[in-house]
Amino acid sequence: MRTQVVIIGGGPAGLLLGQLLHRQGIDSVLLERHSREYVLARIRAGVLESGLVDLLREAGAGERMQREGLKHAGIYLANSNRGFRIDFERLCGGSVMVYGQTELTLDLYQARDAMDAAMLHQVDQVQIHAADTEHPAVSFVRDGHEQRIECDFIAGCDGFHGVSRKTIPASLLREFERVYPFGWLGVLSQTPPVSDELIYASHERGFALCSMRSPGLSRYYLQVALEDKVEQWSDEAFWNELRQRIPHAAAESIVTGAAIEKSIAPLRSFVAEPMRWGRLFLCGDAAHIVPPTGAKGLNLAASDVYYLWRALRQYYHDGDEQGIEDYSATALSRVWKAERFSWMMTKLLHRFPQQSPFDLRMQQAELEYLESSVAAQTSLAENYLGLPY
Ligand code: APR
Ligand code: PHB
Repeated sequence: MRTQVVIIGGGPAGLLLGQLLHRQGIDSVLLERHSREYVLARIRAGVLESGLVDLLREAGAGERMQREGLKHAGIYLANSNRGFRIDFERLCGGSVMVYGQTELTLDLYQARDAMDAAMLHQVDQVQIHAADTEHPAVSFVRDGHEQRIECDFIAGCDGFHGVSRKTIPASLLREFERVYPFGWLGVLSQTPPVSDELIYASHERGFALCSMRSPGLSRYYLQVALEDKVEQWSDEAFWNELRQRIPHAAAESIVTGAAIEKSIAPLRSFVAEPMRWGRLFLCGDAAHIVPPTGAKGLNLAASDVYYLWRALRQYYHDGDEQGIEDYSATALSRVWKAERFSWMMTKLLHRFPQQSPFDLRMQQAELEYLESSVAAQTSLAENYLGLPY
């Protein structure tokens, strides 16, 4: 088998790239380890920057998002019972789209179905060959049979635990990491959201986030200790703790209900450099991870895909390799700025074990400065909305 681009990974990055390449007449084969049902059962974030909204439209997969997505022109930051709004519209003239990643992934799957493109699920033992030559290939096992695809390029969209990053020789790879001393306990409930916009709450008991998926589906998070197990948290315990951390007005009005999904995720900042080795390109979580406090994970996957799609279009349509040469540096420049923002938001809003009284005063001063300064709020807003591609 032969194709122009092999895409490893059928998450948002791989699906979006495949769709964009197809609309430029560039053929790809997408290899996904799990079943479609497994991929679509994942609950992930739900805040889309305008750049991703535009890419979904470009990919021909934006119609339902346009119809069902919720346009948000601001967020609330709360410091114990004191809250204030960051008005994106007034500060930067922008907004974000709240639309579940699960829905976005489904839309991309359906778009790929419509173009009748090769997407192979439940592939095992994926291996990358000769990535540092002009004739790379990918082998894998499916239904007990080994197969091999010759190609021009390989897009490693296989997430943090994938094979792509691990294929780059250790002597060439530099990894940067910070693991945070807490996790996020997330609950999905079929209840109306407590607020019309997201509430990021800093509290002495720990961070809390009130988010949503639709007018009838709410998503809430609590900062929890690393050693916490989801079994320790009954629905009642979750709601009681959430009420203590969010502003009183929200705590009094929140509609609680059964958790239809409950899970604990660790938080880390991670970047691998470079994001390219020969004809292998890393995209999305394969190359970087951010703590979810800045809602950047999905949006960084999108900007990586944008840069790679543009580079491959330049190569195939114009015979120009400049985009390919520039890919890693261009993508990393935006990645590191989003890592900074995500780290800053995490440091600002969470309680860290062994935090000194001085550190606590710094957090309070930062929140009070944010509440009082248009300049500070504008900086936060432009980062949350998404820096330019
Ligand atoms: N072979 C084939 N597929 C693989 C392999 C492999 N060896 N390893 C991983 N995969 C698949 C996973 O099953 C997953 O479906 O690659 C896909 C990677 O998808 P994501 O982890 O979602 O990463 P990405 O597409 O970069 O999207 C980043 O999604 O998970 C969120 O928090 C993440 O918001 C971020 C966004
Ligand atoms: C979510 O809705 O899952 C969500 C929203 C904003 C974040 C993180 C997660 O910063």
